[in-house]
Amino acid sequence: MSERDKVLGHADEADGIEEYDNPLPTWWLGLFAGTVAFGIGYAVDYHFVSKRSQAGEYAAELAAAPKAPEATAVAATPDAIAAGKEIYTANCVACHGPDLHGGVGPDLTDATWIHGGKLDEIAHIITVGVPEKGMLTWGPILGPQKVGQVAAYVHSAGGGQ
Ligand code: HEC
Repeated sequence: MSERDKVLGHADEADGIEEYDNPLPTWWLGLFAGTVAFGIGYAVDYHFVSKRSQAGEYAAELAAAPKAPEATAVAATPDAIAAGKEIYTANCVACHGPDLHGGVGPDLTDATWIHGGKLDEIAHIITVGVPEKGMLTWGPILGPQKVGQVAAYVHSAGGGQ
């Protein structure tokens, strides 16, 4: 009887059904052992040698991702204020009114501010918006320079601190 035809010999318990005990082919077992060895090596390398982790990769991706443009240095020059007035007229009148006294959006000429009345605070809230209240995230639409100009205009219009 060859190795291939070895019978397990429990036919008497199984209504005469015989079962062969055929070993798995050597190439298959080799492949299996190889994947196990690779898996152990990979895990050791991942955790202890290269010190990689999902949390680390996530943090690295976040750090590399482009940030929403922020208006950093806002200079309230007369030119910027004049340019800002045009940007305001084109984009903001519908909600804040032609004379900035408000409507759907709050009055921008009084001393009451929800998000702060300093120039950089105004620029910041225009950049990030308040989407849940209907104030758009203008940063990506206008870009930092125009946000800076319109912020300078709003700030100059009376209520800025
Ligand atoms: C679709 C309506 C809408 C448009 C258009 C809009 N806003 Fe607003 N804006 C709002 C609303 C509503 C708020 C109040 C958000 C809140 O309650 O937090 C707001 C808040 C603000 C604030 C903060 C006010 C505060 O009291 O802190 C500033 C500054 C502002 N908007 C500037 C602008 C500028 C500049 C534009 C044009 C580029 C603009 N908004 C366009 C609706 C609008």
